[in-house]
Amino acid sequence: MESAVKRIGVLTSGGDAPGMNAAIRSVVRSAAKMGIECVGIRRGWAGLINGDILRMESDSVSHIINRGGTMLYTARSDEFRTEAGLQKAANTCKLLGLDGIVAIGGDGTFKGARELSAYGVAVVGVPGTIDNDIVCTDYTIGFDTAANTAVECIDRLRDTMQSHERCAVVEVMGRHAGYLALYVGMSVGATAVLVPEDHYDFHTDVAEKIRRARLGGKTNFMIVVAEGAASAVDVGRQIQEELGLDPRITILGHIQRGGCPTAKDRVMATRMGYEAVRVLAAGKTNRVICAHDDKIFDVDITEGLNMKKTLNPEEYEVMEVMSGT
Ligand code: F6P
Repeated sequence: MESAVKRIGVLTSGGDAPGMNAAIRSVVRSAAKMGIECVGIRRGWAGLINGDILRMESDSVSHIINRGGTMLYTARSDEFRTEAGLQKAANTCKLLGLDGIVAIGGDGTFKGARELSAYGVAVVGVPGTIDNDIVCTDYTIGFDTAANTAVECIDRLRDTMQSHERCAVVEVMGRHAGYLALYVGMSVGATAVLVPEDHYDFHTDVAEKIRRARLGGKTNFMIVVAEGAASAVDVGRQIQEELGLDPRITILGHIQRGGCPTAKDRVMATRMGYEAVRVLAAGKTNRVICAHDDKIFDVDITEGLNMKKTLNPEEYEVMEVMSGT
């Protein structure tokens, strides 16, 4: 049966993530295949308020599957959090004849989507954030690339830390979540990993692990700190004061958000983008696309945001066994 959905918009909002371009490409091309017209909305929700749009055809998204960043730009909009802003955005949708919006971003983007759907706009969210902190999905686009970028940087640091027999303290992103830090920490064989989900005690979680590693014959140490757990500068200062080491601090920062997406991010973005259009075409709204057990499906945004996501306890346990060695 032909869908009543004739025209949709796609936008990226919040922090960018590698793979967002691949998701945009998938939305545009899936829509074209389903006979749905697609417009790109620039600068996230702010662009929807201002009608900052461009028409997108299949060839508008050529050669972007491999590119980091987002061709639609992204922004965080305070105006969109107000009733007046939401009303303006809903009016733009009406004016442009948009039957639905695919919003690619993190939990802030989804909260915005949920608010907008209350104004009668059909919205589907696609999870795109390096933090992997969207509760209802096992995977968010950008995580794999960010993790691999961080691992590559830390491997380089390790070379020089080894030569000088030093301690490195590396801060990785993740906002309030420790998924990225835990994954990266395990990949680089960190001496200790600090995550916000588990309140840390400097003596048991850092000092003791460095001591144990030293007793085991190690002369260089890698401490990975999630930005939401502590500041690498503070942890470094404590290591200096309490252990007499002379650590070097590295804050990886926005480096983790850039670069060509990995194959995994391109594939997940393509699958999720397709599913988002399918869900909109089926007349659904207020949904978020999720991944679990290699299946892609949709759940209600409100339900999805209310779920509780915790670090994988098995992953955490393994990290604990490996740390301090
Ligand atoms: O949500 C993605 C993220 O990179 C977080 O890891 C980080 O805390 C935040 O965005 C940084 O935001 P901004 O780009 O505004 O500095």
